[in-house]
Amino acid sequence: MKNIVVLISGSGTNLQRIINCIDSGEISNAKVSLVIADRECYGLKRAEENNIDNMLIPRGKGFSDELEKLLPDDTDLIVLAGFLSILSKDFTEKWNGKIINIHPSLLPKFGGKGMYGTKVHQSVIEAGEKESGATVHFVTSGIDEGEIILQGKVRIEANENAETLAEKVHQIEYEIFPKAIEKVLKIPL
Ligand code: GAR
Repeated sequence: MKNIVVLISGSGTNLQRIINCIDSGEISNAKVSLVIADRECYGLKRAEENNIDNMLIPRGKGFSDELEKLLPDDTDLIVLAGFLSILSKDFTEKWNGKIINIHPSLLPKFGGKGMYGTKVHQSVIEAGEKESGATVHFVTSGIDEGEIILQGKVRIEANENAETLAEKVHQIEYEIFPKAIEKVLKIPL
């Protein structure tokens, strides 16, 4: 059984999707052993309702060191599911190949510092893009720069706004995230 630790900052709909896919077997032989948030958020409630251990480590300078201390030794995969803090170089190097992130654009476009949530969708629309999507990638010390595992695309319609695009991108995230997790868990050590 593989142990997944999920890091969140927000409503946690991707966390819920991961939990559901473990229950349905779409993600096999795994469990969410712990959910960690860097701020108060609805995702912590979801963890609680699903009887998953959860904790809050306040965001800020000491976050990664605290995370390193509290992370169970038997953690197989760290999944960033709407997690907005930046992990330290030391932490990402130590857990190299074992941290993945979902980002709401077609990386390398619209990634990097300050690019998260609605800001991403707003920038995509302002740039006049014809398509957007979501990317699951390995996490390295460079923000949104690690190797891409899976991407999913959505079309941008003429009357699209950041809100409607966010909703579409969320739907594609729910498709690719479980597939990417299953894929990474199957990589031999
Ligand atoms: C998702 O769209 C995810 O791609 C994005 O936050 C949202 C979280 O939604 N992540 C980032 O912007 C990270 N740079 P959720 O809390 O409902 O899963």
